[in-house]
Amino acid sequence: MQLNDSDRDWEAFGKRDPYFAVLTAPEFHGALSGSAREKFFESGEEHIETIFSIVRERLDPTFAPQSALDFGCGVGRLVIPLANRCREVTGVDVSPSMLAEARRNCDALELRNVSLVEGDDSLSRVKGAFDFVHTYIVLQHIPVERGERLIKKLAELIAPGGVGMLQVPYTTGRRSLVSRALYWSRMNLPGAKLLLNLAKRRAPGAPVMQMNAYSVTRVTDILRDAGCREIHVRFSDHDGARGVLLFARKSDAPIFL
Ligand SMILES: C[S@@+](CC[C@H](N)C(=O)[O-])C[C@H]1O[C@@H](n2cnc3c(N)ncnc32)[C@H](O)[C@@H]1O
Repeated sequence: MQLNDSDRDWEAFGKRDPYFAVLTAPEFHGALSGSAREKFFESGEEHIETIFSIVRERLDPTFAPQSALDFGCGVGRLVIPLANRCREVTGVDVSPSMLAEARRNCDALELRNVSLVEGDDSLSRVKGAFDFVHTYIVLQHIPVERGERLIKKLAELIAPGGVGMLQVPYTTGRRSLVSRALYWSRMNLPGAKLLLNLAKRRAPGAPVMQMNAYSVTRVTDILRDAGCREIHVRFSDHDGARGVLLFARKSDAPIFL
């Protein structure tokens, strides 16, 4: 068995505490209700509204996607606002428990235009091309080699004229040497994960939330190879992990010579 398997760990997060695993604020522990639930889903609505307005401002003023793909959709926080704006939405996640919770959330809102699909490294269950391909706070949790292959696949799934928005971290957010050393030990030394879990009073087999940093240069090149000709970049900072939001459009814009 692999020492650290991010897919297995995400299924453990999805089973134990799915909302908190998506947004790690104390108020999102457990089954959400009342104002915590409202706040959680409101954050998704605000995110998608902002992303759409940036696309319209910077890449395509007429942007009104019919089909959208949300990669690493979790409990559907971003799928729901996408379903309210697009004809069809596909949410992909590697965790069946996350997908089951997303399905409950979509059904509670009677959303009939959402397909939820279990992901693998070649996204083999995702069919067709999409006007909008989106992924947010997901890639950081996937080892880079696998993540780059998935980015290639996601870029290929953008329809001609369509837009992708990929949030890509370029630092892990672990600044101190001690925090980096502990993380490295948990990831690489057999037994270290168990010892650190016990020291922190966590369950012995508690999963690790991986934080991986990507090369933005390599990711932009993958997007270019897949036919994206325009890019708009914004910075992101998720709990200290610095990254970029890459808005990429598949258009006929010339490559400068
Ligand atoms: C921090 S949550 C973010 C969820 C959602 N994007 C949001 O912002 O509400 C990360 C999600 O990525 C999913 N994930 C992790 N690795 C994945 C993979 N290899 N393929 C698809 N989904 C993955 C996890 O199961 C989890 O639901």
